[in-house]
Amino acid sequence: MDLISIDSLSDEQMSILLETGDLYARQNRDGQVSTKLVGRTVFNLFYENSTRTAMSFAVAAARLGAQPLTLSVERSSAKKGETLEDTARTLGAMLPDAVVLRHRETGAAAEVAALIECPVINAGDGTGEHPTQALLDALTLRQQFGRVEGLTIAICGDIRHSRVARSNIKLLQRLGANVRLAGPPSLLPNDLAGSSSIEEAVSGSDAVMMLRVQRERSDEELGDAPGEYLANYGLTLERLGLAAPHAVVLHPGPMNRGIEIADEVADHPRSLILRQVENGVAMRMAVLDLLVGSTS
Ligand code: NCD
Repeated sequence: MDLISIDSLSDEQMSILLETGDLYARQNRDGQVSTKLVGRTVFNLFYENSTRTAMSFAVAAARLGAQPLTLSVERSSAKKGETLEDTARTLGAMLPDAVVLRHRETGAAAEVAALIECPVINAGDGTGEHPTQALLDALTLRQQFGRVEGLTIAICGDIRHSRVARSNIKLLQRLGANVRLAGPPSLLPNDLAGSSSIEEAVSGSDAVMMLRVQRERSDEELGDAPGEYLANYGLTLERLGLAAPHAVVLHPGPMNRGIEIADEVADHPRSLILRQVENGVAMRMAVLDLLVGSTS
């Protein structure tokens, strides 16, 4: 089984992942490690920069006893002109137990999965999907509120270029949440309904998920002056004040402080941003456990 999209998961697998992720989060806090995947190898292939996702997959594999092996793409034969297909077949011939792939092209993970026998996990494909990020976000919300069903979640910012938003919209809606989208009109996708008013989306919501402006994915300049994005579309303390009194703040990282999120909000007691990172390790353990552990 591969994890390419939230659509790859059945309802049962979704709830197994949330349960197992929660269990691993508690075990990690208690300093416990597992031997479930001893002797297994997990290949990490990151063709785009990553801090959280790359490290948390490596830590997750290690905490399960598996060996994470990271291809240094900058120094790989990709730089000599090898195609992704040939790289995939080459690495597949080494018989890894799982391949984790991040790539700038939408559809890259599905392409590699069709060429490799072992489970392939999409760690972000272009503007496509980022399913493990959505799973760790759902886990974070579930821990905080005891459920996802019935929550109102505002996803705000550069939705057009966000694979995090695409996976979250699918997952959170399947779990019964009410998802609102808002951002600058030029950064809202054509295929999803959203508002250009952050205030409207945030008002009364239980959680606000802010997204980074992904300038690397667009040729157009936003044409904004310094401070303008924060003033018009960023999450300031004042806007957070429109949300429910218990509302929490999420951000997948990396944050651009002072652009989509104010410092005081990033560091607010109701910011769960570091909890998301913590849960990233636990959720990736759950994913490796489900995909690799069940093939033993
Ligand atoms: C995101 C990504 O790479 O899609 N980061 C992450 O994985 N936590 C979001 C982003 O880059 O803004």
